Amino acid sequence: MNRKLIAGNWKMNGLRADLPTIREVAVAATGQPGAPELLLCVPATLLSEACSIASGSALAVGGQTCHVSEKGAFTGDISAPMLRELGATHVIVGHSERRTGHGESDEIVAGQARTAQKAGLIPIICIGETLEERSAGRTLNIIKGQLSGSLAGLESAANLVIAYEPLWAIGTGKVATPAQIEEVHGFIRSFLKGRFGDAGKGVRILYGGSLNPGNAPEILPIPNVDGGLIGGASLKAADFLAIYATARALSV
Ligand code: 13P
Repeated sequence: MNRKLIAGNWKMNGLRADLPTIREVAVAATGQPGAPELLLCVPATLLSEACSIASGSALAVGGQTCHVSEKGAFTGDISAPMLRELGATHVIVGHSERRTGHGESDEIVAGQARTAQKAGLIPIICIGETLEERSAGRTLNIIKGQLSGSLAGLESAANLVIAYEPLWAIGTGKVATPAQIEEVHGFIRSFLKGRFGDAGKGVRILYGGSLNPGNAPEILPIPNVDGGLIGGASLKAADFLAIYATARALSV
């Protein structure tokens, strides 16, 4: 069983007034062997302060995207080395909100993941189908295509996380059923074993999409669910920590 990872994605939320939330989470993070890892992916504007707050605690801090290039004339973008320099350890790439809102293709996502790994960051590559694709019975085909494309050229499975986030479950309050999650996560695991051999077993596969303290006890124990990527419920320390507590109880 892989060590679980409970990751929050604050998206475009959070001002300095919200730093106490990060402090509360950092204080609760336990670095005990076997305990789940705890991560908050905050907006770039809060990264520096978040890293200072988390320093010395078991809370890790991550970014929400990075550019394919390490530097250059890309106004408004942020690079993987910039995130790493501030103290980030992870970066989300290919979130559906960036795939749809910023036209990020599988090819771009693969480039971002490679640049992230090169900079010493762990990319969290997001994939997931739309409701239309699921209704048409195309879920596994879509997932396979996204995995093939988004992992192109990636040599290392050692520093890699995959997040399965069905688009129709993001921010909607609709959660995939345990059977749906088990099917897709099992499929992702087989793909990873085919792609990376034995090392594919150690790649963590997170579920994301309306995960909250109420449904976490049902979702986190599902085979091949190695944690969660949590949006809305990560904005409140009490909710995020309740999901962490569920994961902790499963780890003992
Ligand atoms: P919600 O938990 O708000 O549905 O968001 C999920 C998500 O997109 C995390 O990356």
